[in-house]
Amino acid sequence: MSNPTDPRQLPGADPHTGNRKVDPVTGYETTGHDWGGITELNTAFPKIVIWALILAVTYSVIAWILLPAWPLGRDYTRGLLGLDQGQQALEGFQELSAGRQDWLSRFGDGDFAALQSDADLMARALPAAERLFSDNCAACHGDAGQGGPGYPVLADDHWLWGGDPAAIAETLHVGINADHPDTRIAEMPAFDWMERADRTALAQYVSELPSGRADVDSSGATLFAENCASCHGDGGAGGLEGIGAPSLTDGSVIYGQDEGTVMETLKLGRHGVMPAWTGRLSDAEINLLALYVVALGQRGAEAAQ
Ligand code: HEC
Ligand code: HEC
Repeated sequence: MSNPTDPRQLPGADPHTGNRKVDPVTGYETTGHDWGGITELNTAFPKIVIWALILAVTYSVIAWILLPAWPLGRDYTRGLLGLDQGQQALEGFQELSAGRQDWLSRFGDGDFAALQSDADLMARALPAAERLFSDNCAACHGDAGQGGPGYPVLADDHWLWGGDPAAIAETLHVGINADHPDTRIAEMPAFDWMERADRTALAQYVSELPSGRADVDSSGATLFAENCASCHGDGGAGGLEGIGAPSLTDGSVIYGQDEGTVMETLKLGRHGVMPAWTGRLSDAEINLLALYVVALGQRGAEAAQ
């Protein structure tokens, strides 16, 4: 029978005497719960936890009053202190980008000579240029413009399309073999129709051009003059404008100039793609990058001397 006033029925009480069991080691009463000989002491709830709860609730109430806290449909309670980190962040960002627009807009009209002679401005723009380059260009051209198989070195003074800032900015605007209507077009035709023996003679001749040991009386040299010089220049010296064909004498090729790679180039042709950046980057950003690339080239050329 359940009787709430009977001490023998209280939790932890001895069912015969009604006395609570006491833990012999600590002297505390136990709750009477027993897990295979392990009993639970009937100790008071720790005060520190109660105080922590009281403090937390008090702090919350004060914060609700002073700081932005509760959503109200499309708005929220602003708090008495008027602190608003969202608003502060927005203002900070606007201030920062206004400061950036201020100097970046000076790159917009592309007066490269004036920009280059303003050392102060260029020093201020350099970190942004570095960031633009590493975000947009480094994946193909390397962190320092060092290039790689299939991607030209930018940190030297060999240029397919001209190395002055205006020419580079134009390359960036329209791309190479890109989807821009005015894209630069670089087409190395396939010579798969040519006898293999002739291709081999050509590849041998071309692979020896940079060393200066190429035999000008060989059949390779004759074939080159007939089939290749119109784009690559006499003796492969390059320098013909608007074709994008590299010089084959100065060791600055993109794909490689060993016999095997030249055989592959002759068999398949080459059609390297450089994306167009108009629409993805602003005019000012493109001009800034063009100047950055010019500086990379100058630094690379100096280092090579
Ligand atoms: C998807 C790879 C890729 C990306 C990204 C890329 N490029 Fe290129 N870029 C190329 C290739 C490939 C060529 C050479 C195309 C050819 O075969 O003629 C090239 C050529 C160039 C040239 C012409 C070099 C010369 O000798 O005239 C310049 C300048 C250049 N890139 C700068 C940049 C800059 C600056 C960026 C970043 C905004 C960039 N590239 C991003 C692949 C890329
Ligand atoms: C219509 C013009 C044209 C003709 C003709 C031509 N080329 Fe090219 N060649 C190019 C262009 C443009 C490129 C660069 C392609 C690229 O980068 O995507 C190129 C690239 C090459 C390359 C690769 C260089 C590198 O960057 O690694 C080799 C090698 C080459 N040509 C050899 C020859 C030989 C040999 C012949 C004659 C059998 C020949 N070319 C005929 C335009 C031409």
